[in-house]
Parts: sequence; C-alpha cells; structure tokens
Amino acid sequence: MECPNCSFENVADSRFCENCGQPLERACPNCGQAVPGSARFCRHCGHDLSQSAPAAPSTVPRSAGLEAIRRAAPSAMAKKILADRERSEGERKRVTALFADIVGSTGLAEALDPEDWREIVGGAHQRVSEKVYAYEGTIAQLLGDGVLAFFGAPLTHEDDPERAIRAALAIQEAIQAYGRDLVAAGRVPHFQMRIGLNSGLVVVGDIGNDLHMEYLAVGDTVNLAARVQSAADPEAILVTDNTQRLASSLFDFEDRGQVTVKGKSGEIQLFRVIGERRGAAPARGVAGLDSPMVGRRREATTLLHLVDEVRQGRGTTVAIVGEAGLGKSRLIAEWRRQAQGSAGAAPLRWVEGRCLSYGSTMAHHLSTGILRGLIGITPESTPADAATSLRATLDRVLGGEAENVYPFLGHLLGLELGEEAAARVKYLDGPALQSRYISSYSLLIRGLCAESPVVIVCEDVHWADPSSVELGRQILPVVGELPLIVALVMRPEKDSPGWRLLESARETAGGALEIHLAPLTEGDTQELVRNLLDIESLPDDLRQVIRAKAEGNPFFVEEVLRMLIDQGSLQREGQGWRLTGDVASLEIPDTLQGVLAARIDRLPEEAKRTLQIASVIGRTFQVRVLEEVIQRQRSGGRTGAG
Ligand SMILES: Nc1ncnc2c1ncn2[C@@H]1O[C@H](COP(=O)(O)OP(=O)(O)OP(=O)(O)O)[C@@H](O)[C@H]1O
Ligand SMILES: [Mg+2]
Repeated sequence: MECPNCSFENVADSRFCENCGQPLERACPNCGQAVPGSARFCRHCGHDLSQSAPAAPSTVPRSAGLEAIRRAAPSAMAKKILADRERSEGERKRVTALFADIVGSTGLAEALDPEDWREIVGGAHQRVSEKVYAYEGTIAQLLGDGVLAFFGAPLTHEDDPERAIRAALAIQEAIQAYGRDLVAAGRVPHFQMRIGLNSGLVVVGDIGNDLHMEYLAVGDTVNLAARVQSAADPEAILVTDNTQRLASSLFDFEDRGQVTVKGKSGEIQLFRVIGERRGAAPARGVAGLDSPMVGRRREATTLLHLVDEVRQGRGTTVAIVGEAGLGKSRLIAEWRRQAQGSAGAAPLRWVEGRCLSYGSTMAHHLSTGILRGLIGITPESTPADAATSLRATLDRVLGGEAENVYPFLGHLLGLELGEEAAARVKYLDGPALQSRYISSYSLLIRGLCAESPVVIVCEDVHWADPSSVELGRQILPVVGELPLIVALVMRPEKDSPGWRLLESARETAGGALEIHLAPLTEGDTQELVRNLLDIESLPDDLRQVIRAKAEGNPFFVEEVLRMLIDQGSLQREGQGWRLTGDVASLEIPDTLQGVLAARIDRLPEEAKRTLQIASVIGRTFQVRVLEEVIQRQRSGGRTGAG
C-alpha cells in the first residue's frame, strides 16, 4: 500500500505508514465508512473492497506549513466557512481536487541546505494557496512538497471545476515567474510544477477554527488527482475526463487519449489544459439541438415596448429576475435580435457587461466591462487600442470637456496615463476618486445618449462586485431623463450586493420595471422538447421524465436530454430520435449537481436540514410524515451524511 504522504510502499494491511506515520486507514468507496487496510469487504455495507484502490486517509495530518497557509486565507472566506461549518460537516460534496507538485523535488532538495529548501518550498506553497483562495478553493493537505486543494468543499459553487482550472492556470503562471527569479538568483537549476485535477466525491469531516478540515475521499477522487499530476509534463495541467466534461466549453484541451496511471487498474482518459477559450461564456444548450424561444411572449412584448419608448427619448430601468436556467439570458438575446433587427429603425447602441461568479472581489469588474463596451473595445484590444478608443469617443461626444474626463475613465480602465493626466488622479483618496469615476461615467453616458438611444445590459448582477454596485446606484437616477435602458439581469438573491442595485432603482423617480420569470408551462416545456428533438409526438416515458426532473426549467430540460443522449438512452434514428432502455431511474445530471448544490447551500440552516431529511423520505410524502421524522431527529440527535 503506497503512502499518500511520502509514497513509501508499506505492507498491505498497514494502518500507519512505516516511514512517516501517516494513517493508512481507507474509506469504503461505496458508503464512505472507514475500514482497515486489510479488509476485503466493507463491514458496514458489504462492498467488495478488492474492486477498488484504497482511498485517501480520513485523518489529515497538520503541519506548521499547512497552518501558515490557512492563516493566510482571506477573512471573508474564512467567515463563510465557519458560519456554515455545522451544516457542512458530514456532507457528501462533489469536489474538483487539484494536486500541484514540484518537479524533481528530491533532487533539488538534496543539493540544498534544508533550511533554504524549506524557504523555497514555502514560497511556492504561498503562491499556490493565493491562487486557490482567489477562486474560493481550500487547501486540504500538504503531501510532501505538493499541495492538495479542493474546489467544492466546504464551500460549494456551481462552477467549481471551472474555478479549479482557472486556479491551476494562474498557479502555473505564478510558479513560472517564481522559478525564473529563483534560477536568476542562482538558488536552483530549475523550478517547475505539475498539476493534476480530478472531480468526484468527498465526505467533509470536522472543520476546526483554523479551517483545518478532515475529509474522507469516496472512491478514488483524491488519489487519482495525485496520479494524474505525476503523469503531467513539467508546467502542464492534466485533467481526467470527469473534470474536462464539466468545463469543456470554456477551455481548450488537448486529448491525451487513454493513459495508464500508476496504482490504477485500467486506463483513464486524460486531457491537457491548453488555456482559456477566448470570449467563451458558459455554454448552454446541447450541440446539434436547438429550439426557437418558446413561451415568454408577454415578457418579450414588454421589452420591445421599452425599445419603442427609448426611441421616443424615454428611459427605463428594467430588472429581469429568475432562478438559474429559467431563460433570462435567452430572453435578452431574443430582445436584442428583434430590437436591432427591425428594418429601417434608428440605430440603437447596445452594450452588455457580465459579472462573474468569482468576480465579487474584483473591484469595478462590471463597471469596466460596460465602459469597454461603451467605447467599443473588445477583450482582445490592447491597452493602446483602448486608450485610442477612449480618447476618440470622449472627443467626439464631449468636445472640450473630454480633458476633464479622460484621466478618470482611463484610470478606471487601468490604462497608463500621461504625466498630466496621471497628476490629476494621483493625490485623490479612495472616496474622491470614486466620485470622479461616477461623474465622468455619467458625462460619458449623457454624451452617448445624445447621439443615439443606449441599452446597457448588466448580466448576472447577483455576482456584481460592490464597487460597481455603488457606481451603478449613483448613475441609476439619471436613467429616466435620458434615452437609456438599463437592464439588470439577476437571480433572486436578496443578500447579494447586486440586489441593492435593484432596490436603488425602485427608489428612483421612474422606479424599475420588474419581470420575474416563472417556470415554463407544461405545454411550453413539451413544445421545447419537441423542437429540440425535432419530433412530432413525444414518447410517454420521456414526457414523464422531463416533467419530473426539469419542472419547467429549460436549462434542466436540455441537461436531461444531454444525459439521455450521452448514456445512449436516446438515439438518433433517421431524422428523429428513439428512446431505448429504461429512463425511470435517471439520476440528476452531473452538470446540474453544481447549480443545485450551490443553491441548497444558500438555504437557511433549518430549511436545508428539512430538505435533506425530506429527500431521504422520497419525492412525494405527507407533511405529517416529514414532521414526525424531524421531531424524532430533534430528540435523537443530528442526521448523518446528507
Ligand atoms: N423560452 C425558451 N425557449 C427555448 N429555450 C430556452 C428558453 N429559455 C431558455 N432556453 C434555453 O435554456 C438554456 C438556459 O437558459 P439561459 O441561459 O437563458 O438561463 P439563465 O436564466 O440566463 O440562467 P443563469 O442564471 O444560469 O444565467 C439555454 O440553452 C437557453 O437557450
Ligand atoms: Mg444567464
């Protein structure tokens, strides 16, 4: 049995590593309970343990290095983890495990004074953890000179696999710079990392005040990440197909084919991460299936009416509110197409800014995204292009006033300013600068609105960063005076900073028009499936499955179909599709697990516990039964894994 801490090969039934003392008990991959290394069957569930490789240890050793890294965790994140710790403990979580290790560390260490090597490794760990924390991952363990991080536990997000890959890319960049410095200073001949990622289940154990988290890897989740790492080239990031599938629309991957990894029977499919796909937004829809927009006629008419109004000079703030996947972005896309597509209509300037799920700490992310759109630059534009476009736009719409605006909007965009412009910004403190950003932004918008009506769409406002929210709140009152539509697209997350934007809009003189999206009706859902599959009548089984699993959410409809196609239960036959096999026992698609888990995690403690208990009883039940079980739980103690 190989020790996951030091790789020492121990005899089969060891409970602790002979070399470093690491506990070697393993977890049953079926039920997650701890079993001795020598057991052939799990004594809790009877699972045949010879079928699977040993899982990671359930006890995570502490070390000074690990504690220092944990102390460096951002306080907002630590607060979130501790506030939620009671209910995280004992839960099964779907994580993406990231394992980053130093290439050839034994050789490097041997040539150095131990103290010097420790310092170099410490510098690497600090860089790795910074990037992990930037995407709200957590450091689970230090394994030798390597770092094991989790994205998805204890904090869950709908896009944890994406976050893990972004963190891995950022780590490689930071470590390359670090390596260059170390080599230039003559401290080491080379310094590089390999990174491996894999997605799967862990059970979260106790979480300490210092964020120390015990965990139990169910099956091979963690071991596989470590082994995939060892198969990577220096400076490369390798992922298993489990991870690749969940982020395939956002990054470019090189297919490395079926690879045998040490300690794993059979081959696994691996991919190398090439990099972020330019301009990619999280893909929705299933390749090869599409449908015109179904339903939403009233909402679409209302939005088009606003465009008529704005062409008459009357502006509005409109909020489009709905849960994930209900079709907010689709509605906006149709609106844009129709508003800009009507023949002979006066030109309309249409600008969209997007908030990111991990962007709430990126100051002014939304405001700069919109500003870039307003001056007509793309993510690919160079800083020099941006400066030219800003200057040209301001000269055109503001004339002589441009000189007083350029330094502040240039600064907001992070452009390098000339001496004179820089001097106007340099001595301003935070609040003074923010107030100049706001007045400059307002002047630009007024100027552009004098040219043609403007529509500004703010996507995913529930993730907006607080500084953009503040800027937006100051600008909203002018909307009613201008030919300007501001559309706030958001999920109903009333505790998010972005919600304050809607509240401010409600308080302005013109108020805000609110469109709250409901699930699609049964009839619209069926029409959607018929359009997607291009068939006249739906098999009854399929109709039932869609009704039960998707409940009128078009994103869920698409993901259920995707899963049926991937599993081979739905097969192409000529022009149409044929349902083969049993679909009644269909699970929830992987691609929806993240969205659902993140949403469940946001529920208040009591609601979440109730939901967990209810889910054990079944899909439909009598309230009385639920009440009874909850009563018994209360008198008998807490539930186990959820
Ligand atoms: N009315 C509709 N008719 C047909 N397809 C739809 C409709 N609404 C949404 N869809 C499809 O469902 C998927 C999810 O929709 P969309 O991305 O617009 O959801 P969203 O509300 O913006 O979700 P999120 O909050 O996650 O951004 C998309 O593929 C979209 O094309
Ligand atoms: Mg959307």
